[in-house]
Amino acid sequence: MRDTVLLNYSASGTGMPVVMLHGFPLSSAIWASQQLNLSKKYFVITPDLRGHGLSPATEGIYDMDLLARDVLALLDHLHLTQVVIIGHSMGGYVALAAWHRSPERFLGLGLVGSQASADTEEGKKNRQKTAAKVAGGGGQVVANAMLPKLFASKHAANLPLIEGIEKIMVDTPTNGIIGSLNGMASRSDFDEELAEIDIPVLILSGEKDQIIPITKALAMAATIPEAILKIVPDAGHLPMIENPEATTKALDEFLSAIQASGYRLGPKGL
Ligand code: MLT
Repeated sequence: MRDTVLLNYSASGTGMPVVMLHGFPLSSAIWASQQLNLSKKYFVITPDLRGHGLSPATEGIYDMDLLARDVLALLDHLHLTQVVIIGHSMGGYVALAAWHRSPERFLGLGLVGSQASADTEEGKKNRQKTAAKVAGGGGQVVANAMLPKLFASKHAANLPLIEGIEKIMVDTPTNGIIGSLNGMASRSDFDEELAEIDIPVLILSGEKDQIIPITKALAMAATIPEAILKIVPDAGHLPMIENPEATTKALDEFLSAIQASGYRLGPKGL
């Protein structure tokens, strides 16, 4: 794994390890409320993906498998054999790529506002156009395009919330944004593999998600054998921020069930 980078991360709590991956172009900061609350019961690790937050922003295409290997390398660094991985949106694409590569490292999988489908041809072209604009205009280009669609209408006037997310996007390095756009455009389609996922899975969506519609969540939940579906009210694409209490509760119920079923310590004794 010599092409992996050591990700910046925050870790707190003790107990069953839970890794929470953010979406594009965001950072580990989106999980602050969940980390604070869930770390009372679990060991919660929130990395910044490559090119986001304070992690190294290398040049080139950020293939979802490369981002997944960064995460798996972080698990090795922390001596964690098996974990639950929760991924938001692009973080969900990374979680699926990690599961595809190393299913034995998973105690459970959470997909939040995410999907298993690859981009359509039109979607790929749009990513290329956006990447070309970002080369000149930086993160503000993506912020301007995404912010009007990110939140449920209930939060449309919540400036502190909107400006907080805008700042994370604008602060994301250009390499990270372009690398991720190209990586998402070329990602694999996992729709056909969903039926093979034989671990507990949580599919969670904001009921007003305009970026990845909840029809994607419903279809995934209907296909994955051990899936639990949670639709969070008063939330769009960022349920962890728009309705943090309901999101934390759903995550806690999912994690408690895995714990109650007797998750075992891995061969390294962790
Ligand atoms: C994200 O929130 O991570 C992205 O919007 C996902 C995507 O563009 O497919």
